[in-house]
Amino acid sequence: MEYGDSTRCVHAGVPAAAPGQPLMPGPVFAAPYHLDPEGWTPGVDGYGRGDNPTRRVLEAALAELEGGDTLAFASGQAAITAALMAVLRPGDTLMLPSDGYYNVRTFASTVLAELQVEVVEVPTAGPYPSFDGVRLVLLESPANPTLDVVDIAAVSAAAHDAGALVAVDNTAATPLGQRPLDLGADLSVASGTKALSGHSDLLLGYVATRSPDLLAAMTAWRSLAGGIPSPFDAWLARRSLSTLDLRLSRHTANAAALSALLKSHPLVRGVRWPGLVSDPSYAVASQQMRRIPGIVGFELPSASHVAAFLRASRLVLAATSFGGVHTTADRRAQWGDRTSPGFVRLSCGIEDTADVVADVRQALDAAS
Ligand SMILES: Cc1ncc(COP(=O)(O)O)c(C=O)c1O
Repeated sequence: MEYGDSTRCVHAGVPAAAPGQPLMPGPVFAAPYHLDPEGWTPGVDGYGRGDNPTRRVLEAALAELEGGDTLAFASGQAAITAALMAVLRPGDTLMLPSDGYYNVRTFASTVLAELQVEVVEVPTAGPYPSFDGVRLVLLESPANPTLDVVDIAAVSAAAHDAGALVAVDNTAATPLGQRPLDLGADLSVASGTKALSGHSDLLLGYVATRSPDLLAAMTAWRSLAGGIPSPFDAWLARRSLSTLDLRLSRHTANAAALSALLKSHPLVRGVRWPGLVSDPSYAVASQQMRRIPGIVGFELPSASHVAAFLRASRLVLAATSFGGVHTTADRRAQWGDRTSPGFVRLSCGIEDTADVVADVRQALDAAS
């Protein structure tokens, strides 16, 4: 029998019950471990960069949820750049979203461009050009911050026909929202800083794959570049994962209520939430995704309207990032996203729906 999402989140990766052992093993803090005086024995923990039992518990949990072998990294950025560096070589072409997370674009246009990797930017919603000559297609769906959604299975099939590999940034969706490897992608990459861990208290990233070659290349990269998460962060993340289904359910409920309010408010334009029937991403999202994340985009007339809205709100905290238990919002153009000056990304928290709706309504009225 296939377990439900909450059951899987509670049990994934946790060692089997053993009398006298804790239900959830605590963090193991270790740089070196004792060696056999004869020397290192392969398979026995020797040094913390390569070996840590707490990190392995988290990786086993993520592997179950994503459906592929998983490596944890110090941040989403460390994970995504590991995937890029493990695959790309001088002369290769990378296709990546023009409307996705801006730091990945910056990495491509600086570090990768200097390494003679050609970079082609394509909007998440398409149209996608030919994949001929492309080594790696990086998708982000839903894209941050546009919230456009791409048909991962269709793009993966076309990219594979042309000999390209496909990686999907699964940060916004989380593995409960979609499993990119099941949809045909070669790599699922993500920031676990957002909803996955969800309490705004750590940075984390991971890559998942079913390819032994890609896994070996990324393991080697992580060992050489050293971007591992600390045991404490890995432990916190595994602990937080147990409530992912509960948190996402409230995120989605709050996003549904808030997007309806935003659509009806005279100060607001351009509301984006892939769960709205009127949203351009609704058709693909509802066919591809098991649940819609709690991130909503909308436009206010100007940057000063956004500031007035945030000042007037008591529950919407001015903060970047998304997927936490607090409702947060930020004006994306301040970070260099290609959005209008008044475009806001609002991340629903797990507060009571009626409380956030009332607060956002009064804050919009005050900003009007
Ligand atoms: C879609 C997406 N991918 C990757 C990242 C990078 O993750 P991190 O901040 O954990 O390095 C972010 C961060 O905002 C993101 O939104």
